[in-house]
Amino acid sequence: MSKESYIGMRKSARRLDDPGGYRLNDGEMNSVIFDEMLDLMKRNGVTKRVWEPFAGPGSKRFWVRCVMSGFEMESYGLVKGGCKVLTDSTESVPEGKYGGVIMHPPYYGSDPQSDSEQDLSRMLDWKVYSEALEKVFGVAVDSLDEGGFIVAVGRDYRALSRRVRLDLVYVWIMESMGMELIDVWISEPDVAIVARKI
Ligand SMILES: C[S@@+](CC[C@H](N)C(=O)[O-])C[C@H]1O[C@@H](n2cnc3c(N)ncnc32)[C@H](O)[C@@H]1O
Repeated sequence: MSKESYIGMRKSARRLDDPGGYRLNDGEMNSVIFDEMLDLMKRNGVTKRVWEPFAGPGSKRFWVRCVMSGFEMESYGLVKGGCKVLTDSTESVPEGKYGGVIMHPPYYGSDPQSDSEQDLSRMLDWKVYSEALEKVFGVAVDSLDEGGFIVAVGRDYRALSRRVRLDLVYVWIMESMGMELIDVWISEPDVAIVARKI
């Protein structure tokens, strides 16, 4: 997909409700994005298993939603208590197959989100950061069943004296891995890129 086609899709993207109750500045996202992903998975009858490679303290909200909707969830992260498996997602591969992956990586240039050297928020060299990101997207694609979804949350912002178009970077990475971009959801200032494994 060209940059122009994506920009067009983003302009007409659906704006999600925002009930609040999350800490945007601490790297948490609007949980309506997660609810939308579960709905999408249910409607399409994919495996009711979700992997979250970048879990933080706020991810517990998602576990509760999964239990209530009959989904299983595996979450990997670097902060004790905020994830089910304390591990570096650039090195670990989740077991089995998933119908959905929710990706909310640290934003390049954001404040450090843990003490771990493996935390993407600590990677100030764009090449190092984007290679780590690509590695995790690769694992996410491999762990998906055919027809499964990745919802990747990012934004278009400025950091470390440059414009960072994480939304576009996600589109390009996922397309290069054979994923099909199917939708875009907006929850200002975040953008959720929705792609399906074909
Ligand atoms: C933007 S936050 C997302 C938190 C949560 N998903 C939410 O939206 O509420 C990103 C999280 O990924 C974690 N993280 C960063 N690098 C990681 C890595 N290599 N492996 C696992 N988790 C990582 C950070 O510590 C941080 O807690």
